[in-house]
Amino acid sequence: MEQAGSEIHKVEDQPSQLTRQRILLSDNWRFYKYADNQVTDSLIYDVRPEIESDEDGKAADAKPTEAVDIVSEAFVLKPWILPTANPFIDDPAQQHQRPEGNPGADFAFVQGDFDDSQWQQVQVPHDWAISGPFYVGHNAPVGGGMGRLPSPGVGWYRQHFELTAADAEKSIFLDIDGAMSYAMVWLNGHLVGGWPYGYASFRLDLTPYIKLGEANQLAIRIDNPPASSRWYPGGGLYRNVWLTKTNPVHVGQWGTAISSSDISEKSAKVSLSVTIDNDSAQTIEVSTQTNIYALDMDDVVAKSASATIATDAILIDGGQSSRVDGSVVINNPKLWGPLPNQQPNRYVAVTNILQAGKVIDSYETRFGIRELHFDANKGLIVNGEHIYFQGVNQHHDLGALGAAFNVRAAQRQLELLREMGVNAIRLAHNPPAVELLELTDKMGFVVIDEIFDVWERKKTPLDFHLIFPEWAEPDLRAFIRRDRNSPSVVMWSIGNEVGEQYTGADGAKLAQRLQNIAKQEDTSRPTAASMNFAKPDMPLSAVFDTVSLNYQGEGIRNAPAYAHLQGIRTAPLYPAFHQAFPNKVIMSSENAAAVSSRGEYLFPVNDGVSAPVADGAGGDPESLQVSAYELYTAPFGSSADKVLASLAQHPYVSGGFIWSGWDYLGEPTPYYLARSSYFGVIDLAGFKKDRFYLYQSMWRPDFPMAHILPHWNWPERIGKITPVHVFTSGDEAELFLNGRSLGRKQKAEFAARLRWDDVVYEPGELKVQAYKLGKPWAENKVVTTGAATALAFTPDRAEINADGVDLSFVTVKVVDKDGLMVPRAKHQLSFSLQGPGEIVATDNGDSANLVAFPSHQRAAFNGLALVIIKAKKGEPGNISLSVEAEGLEAAHVSITSK
Ligand code: GAL
Repeated sequence: MEQAGSEIHKVEDQPSQLTRQRILLSDNWRFYKYADNQVTDSLIYDVRPEIESDEDGKAADAKPTEAVDIVSEAFVLKPWILPTANPFIDDPAQQHQRPEGNPGADFAFVQGDFDDSQWQQVQVPHDWAISGPFYVGHNAPVGGGMGRLPSPGVGWYRQHFELTAADAEKSIFLDIDGAMSYAMVWLNGHLVGGWPYGYASFRLDLTPYIKLGEANQLAIRIDNPPASSRWYPGGGLYRNVWLTKTNPVHVGQWGTAISSSDISEKSAKVSLSVTIDNDSAQTIEVSTQTNIYALDMDDVVAKSASATIATDAILIDGGQSSRVDGSVVINNPKLWGPLPNQQPNRYVAVTNILQAGKVIDSYETRFGIRELHFDANKGLIVNGEHIYFQGVNQHHDLGALGAAFNVRAAQRQLELLREMGVNAIRLAHNPPAVELLELTDKMGFVVIDEIFDVWERKKTPLDFHLIFPEWAEPDLRAFIRRDRNSPSVVMWSIGNEVGEQYTGADGAKLAQRLQNIAKQEDTSRPTAASMNFAKPDMPLSAVFDTVSLNYQGEGIRNAPAYAHLQGIRTAPLYPAFHQAFPNKVIMSSENAAAVSSRGEYLFPVNDGVSAPVADGAGGDPESLQVSAYELYTAPFGSSADKVLASLAQHPYVSGGFIWSGWDYLGEPTPYYLARSSYFGVIDLAGFKKDRFYLYQSMWRPDFPMAHILPHWNWPERIGKITPVHVFTSGDEAELFLNGRSLGRKQKAEFAARLRWDDVVYEPGELKVQAYKLGKPWAENKVVTTGAATALAFTPDRAEINADGVDLSFVTVKVVDKDGLMVPRAKHQLSFSLQGPGEIVATDNGDSANLVAFPSHQRAAFNGLALVIIKAKKGEPGNISLSVEAEGLEAAHVSITSK
């Protein structure tokens, strides 16, 4: 029952909507952000410490430090915001009382009659920083670490909606899926509440402050601190915002918990608990009836229910909540399991609350029936099948679209990862958009859902540690309650490389507190906290259910090429952890931290399999590019080759998660003058780096493929040694240069690549013939192209929905007369569009490119560029897109919007 927003949200009750309405507030928000040097209002959540030093580009594995004490007399709104956390604080004595008074009531921006017509009109999800411009240079207000974009600052959003007499008896809520950060909300001039953690979803009860029959004015203040993140956080209302109307007696927020047990092909027991809130003043008597329906892959609900769970009538006093439990056996259940060997079958439970035989609320929960088992010598077992983690870490941003969540953009990320052979995602290091988990549920990935990058000790001056004392518990409980019914989530990760690894028993005590909270919320999944420093004998290592290692498994700075570096140094630690914790699953929650720029090959090429990137050794400080020979890493990292070999040699390890699947905004190790990372296997625009094929060759052994690197356009290298490397799912390959064999080679045990390191460059054709078990298996060819003559378009989808949300990702190639991509082309491209659509953003995957994303001018980067098209809402038709460049034949493509 979703409805798109409109200027005034006027919703007439229809019989089917009597029980509950969820209205998406997406259109016609008004937005204002204070300019960089402008004095803002003083409606602050809390006083912040001075930023003493903020080393942008400090090594990701630097030791976190303790919080700074703050003394201040300033008036803060925190006491009015804290009560929003109460439903997620277990001990009533710890819950917060709202103080008297109504701060901000007389401030202009919260008034209904304030004229916001000069404010910018925006659609939510909205990321206030993504259009830039990028900050350039050393000492910029926002450096490379946070992506050089203007995410810090204070901004306001205003929206209004109308309620009618029909809403008189209802409970009215505002559900914010994510606001970056320190959101504080006023309705009709009343401060309602808020939530500081920018990645959290939260609900505010608007009921006490609503007006019927006239506009209700919502005003949201968002305050994003500088130096608060190790990556790009985005800014503003960057996830969906909903207005929810219910009967005063209704299923509470995230009020259902569904689990399954006794699972076989024949039957499964599904258990359900429902929390019912009675917001009325009277004691009521209610019962529940939950019908469970199969859902197909297109989200179509089966006509008849597979089972029903009915609970007895109970009495709930006014202003109280109660929980009811029930269970049922489903025959011949369709199990949820990850692809490729299983199917991600799902169900939807429709929970009706009945009062005197009448349905007064109806609430849907999507879930899956699956049996999770963790084996210390293998890892994850889903429905009896061993699922080895072929995983990636993903940050929350969507490249040129920034943090503003978009389902199609996230789906595209997952589709490309799947093509590589990925089956598992670690959501580094914060709760995702809810729709992302709907995608992983539906597409059959397994997920490690992670909440924190810091606890009490800080990594950046103004990060989450500032609010940890009051918000750790509510954030953790809210996170688990929100995501617990998602079948793709197989593990909760409560922290990443936290500073408490360094604080012995104190750190472990804090960890244990968080572990206990997680267990109170959910016992069906194991917990983890990733460790890059804690050793088997340190107290923190013993606290969580699994051993979750970042980089330590394959060893940190322990290969010869790393011998000269300072910092954490360890031998490969899988064996020591396995010995210390023989009953715990071990996983490589982060590995690699390899770096490269798509299509850039630098010489000479390291003759080992893993080396730290340095200027002149894999990295070019002038162009800010890193070699795509895929051998170079962050100082604490290891190449893909080394990681995969190490995992293969420790078969009890449950698999691992690459740092990172896609490139992301911020953290551009090793070049902090750039804007986005070099870690991705896929670049920021969604183009595959050579590493993609390395992993594909190892993770999809039955998929015949071979891939050659580098490209073969080297006029300046004629007669020079130019190494050629091949990734193949075969076990052997022969390389030919202009028809001459350069030798047939066999993959050594545990090796990920075949290499011909002494090839002398001459233009022409490089061809590889791969073999498996002696038989021809796959071929690949790279040729020296002609000069660039034209441009060519390839849209990922030629038909999109005219809903103002759906996207087409259009690739532009610079090609020669034979249509071959010219691999070093960097032409300036200019885009134009006609028809009912818009160019939302352009990109080329170059981490060092500081042209703002909305620009219609963009240089190709090594032959490629990307343009992202959105159709106008409610205006179907033909969108024609053109691209031109000097000296090249232009390209045109038509995209249908329906
Ligand atoms: C890890 C950290 C990640 C990322 C990565 C690469 O230490 O957990 O968030 O920073 O290094 O630098």
